Amino acid sequence: MQKFIEIQENKTALTERSLEIVLTKLQTALESRGTASIVLSGGSTPKALYEALSTQNLPWEKIHIFWGDERYVPPTHSDSNQLMARKAWLDRVNIPASNIHPMPTASGDPSADARQYETELREFFQISEGEFPVFDLVLLGMGDDGHTASLFPHTDALTVSDRVITVGNKDGQPRLTFTAATINKARCVLFIVAGENKRPALKEIFAPQADERMYPARLIQPLGVFWWLLDRSAAAEIETNDREHFISC
Ligand code: 6PG
Repeated sequence: MQKFIEIQENKTALTERSLEIVLTKLQTALESRGTASIVLSGGSTPKALYEALSTQNLPWEKIHIFWGDERYVPPTHSDSNQLMARKAWLDRVNIPASNIHPMPTASGDPSADARQYETELREFFQISEGEFPVFDLVLLGMGDDGHTASLFPHTDALTVSDRVITVGNKDGQPRLTFTAATINKARCVLFIVAGENKRPALKEIFAPQADERMYPARLIQPLGVFWWLLDRSAAAEIETNDREHFISC
């Protein structure tokens, strides 16, 4: 694992830097394999990044879009991560509809939809049962409580290690989510975290010891390149012996 912890002065700088990193990772994938697979996170933080990506002139026909988690709502619902990404980015670029792979949320059975997405991923990556897809880039956010994707504290989803996709639970509401095992197989994982409200959880995430069930983002320890991109406000209380990985801009 190559780990980088980079602190940017403010959200504008964070967006500019996250765009640079995403473009670099997409370029690397396209040069290596002629195609790129990027997994989107939801929430509000990545919206500015998605808007910036919509202005880029990229070979969209070679880029495939997936989601790392999704609220169990229709794609037209204001809570939908898919809707946010389409409005901010995907509806603004000439990307083939078949390159966009949203999580299904329409059957009324979250477990069945989780299995459906898993099947779609197996077919796309040409892998069999028991194997995990390897994505070029997984984007992640982190909640105030230290969750990431829809891996929420003290939920059953945290312990699922034999599935690609599972059903997360936020306050009794189902969500589809990548398992930590799937995220950790990625070639590159990029956390983008901003705001003072994330400070307490980040302190625990970077602490030498803390309970992973309480702070699920600690479960993310990818085999590939691991990037934490933070704004100064969120990072203010991080004490870590990872100094050699710190890039303070
Ligand atoms: C979601 C996300 C979730 C998000 C964090 C941070 O579906 O909400 O995938 O994991 O990244 O909750 O959200 P903000 O960026 O809005 O703080």
